Amino acid sequence: MNITPKTPEQLAEEKLFKDRRHQQEVQDLRKNWNAPVRHAQRCPEMVSEWGVVFEKLKALIEPSKGRTIALVGGRGSGKTQMAVEAMKFKTNLLKSALFTTSVDLITEFQDCMGPKAVCTRMEVIRKYREQNLLVLDESGKRGETVWENSVIFGLLNHRYNDLTDTIIIDNRAPEEFMASIGDSLVSRISEGGAIFDFKWETFRDSALDPMDAPAGAGKSSSKPPLNL
Ligand SMILES: Nc1ncnc2c1ncn2[C@@H]1O[C@H](COP(=O)(O)OP(=O)(O)O)[C@@H](O)[C@H]1O
Ligand SMILES: [Mg+2]
Repeated sequence: MNITPKTPEQLAEEKLFKDRRHQQEVQDLRKNWNAPVRHAQRCPEMVSEWGVVFEKLKALIEPSKGRTIALVGGRGSGKTQMAVEAMKFKTNLLKSALFTTSVDLITEFQDCMGPKAVCTRMEVIRKYREQNLLVLDESGKRGETVWENSVIFGLLNHRYNDLTDTIIIDNRAPEEFMASIGDSLVSRISEGGAIFDFKWETFRDSALDPMDAPAGAGKSSSKPPLNL
């Protein structure tokens, strides 16, 4: 059989078609991902210590191995931004990602209890279980009762068994964070996961944050120190 080779124009058209279909699939995955608009819209520079940590995080989540990874440290150091960048990275690989906070997650579980329940516990578990990447922000802001801890650990355990990755964000220092989450979760993190300590200065300084700065304010050249 004689197959006529494709012309450069045909090849270019095929590539354009594939790229458009890929972009459409990425957009579909991002429709209900719940990422904060501020962080979703920003395109941070992948530089300085923040950029080094992001490269490490990407390497950990790319293969989907059921890892639990914690981003901890002071407010404004770019933890939520990095988690949202991780969601962009995953969705670009055509894998699903979902953002929530621990308070919202616990509220959803509470809403499915009692006679006025709006959903079942299994539905909530399924929703958070089926995502390839789950981001759980503000982990320290919940009550940390035995019930809450068991709900969260139960979910993370499902995700560990399903080989899906979870990023937990907390404003406390690593030692304080680990003391609060309990041995089971610490052991999950130590099994192939990581704790990244965001110990550099805040990005919320308006000079560093053009989205917060008044119109006309430029971006400062100062960056967090490059010493991991
Ligand atoms: N690498 C970065 N480059 C530029 N701006 C950043 C970077 N990381 C975060 N920001 C911005 O700084 C602000 C604080 O970051 P955020 O991720 O909300 O901090 P945290 O979650 O640690 O409190 C946000 O407006 C965010 O978009
Ligand atoms: Mg945050």
